[in-house]
Amino acid sequence: MVTAPIPVGVQNSAYRFVWPPSLNCMEENILSAESIRDALNTKYIGRPTFYYPSVSSTMDVARQSIAKGASEGTVVLADEQTSGRGRLRREWVSPPDSSLTLSIILYPKLVQVQRLTMAACIAIARCIEDVAYLENSIKWPNDVLINDKKVSGVLIESDVAGDNVNYAIVGIALNVNLDVDSYPEIAAIATSLKRELGLHFSRLDVLASLLAEFEAVYNALCKGEPIQLEWKRRLKTLGQNVTVRCGDVVRKGVAEDVDDDGNLLLRLPNKKLEVISAGDVTLKG
Ligand code: BTN
Repeated sequence: MVTAPIPVGVQNSAYRFVWPPSLNCMEENILSAESIRDALNTKYIGRPTFYYPSVSSTMDVARQSIAKGASEGTVVLADEQTSGRGRLRREWVSPPDSSLTLSIILYPKLVQVQRLTMAACIAIARCIEDVAYLENSIKWPNDVLINDKKVSGVLIESDVAGDNVNYAIVGIALNVNLDVDSYPEIAAIATSLKRELGLHFSRLDVLASLLAEFEAVYNALCKGEPIQLEWKRRLKTLGQNVTVRCGDVVRKGVAEDVDDDGNLLLRLPNKKLEVISAGDVTLKG
């Protein structure tokens, strides 16, 4: 009899798991509004999910949905994005039939907005364990890595006026079956679940896990639970010599800790501690 290993962090999983993963994942289930509705086991995240074969960016479509009164948890999912974007306005490669690219519409409080990147990264990390049993780590601030290569990224866009949050959109890209070797610009730094295991995954199953895990973590965040503890445990950046770049500003130091909102506490060579809220981290080899 084959017994499923229980990876760290999965014990409290919001998702049902099946072992071996190939039983669950070998066949692609077609993505459609109806198949997604039937596959989800969430209360409000992904209900409804608007599915598009092709859009410019799910972030823009989500913003249009908000203007039309979309409810909390509404998801905009696209098979292909023609102008997918990452942090710092970078392009995000989103060809059809390859990945999960989605935006989740939320109406959180200000304290929660600052922690949405953490919530999304935790949900992605748990999802990868649920569906693929793969060890993974989080690279500050918003990358999920497998074997030191990026498999997923998070982009948060929000509209905040003073203490009032009009909305937040959580953009998530997860490379499920992406053939990263076909994209020379990312081949050396990116990976996908398929590349790691040589298995074709059902994006529908991965989506169901991802949204269930996100709902569980977001509920915990809204209840004031300390989700930063799990995020910190999963962070690979801490204790490392790093270079942080934000625009023209470059800082080198030791990534000593993170605060409760996920800001990086960088110990500079002059021993001062700098709080960094945004930037790109390079780990010194
Ligand atoms: C990053 O690592 O820089 C974040 C990447 C986030 C990409 C996702 S794909 C779905 C959503 N729509 C976009 O245009 N971007 C986000």
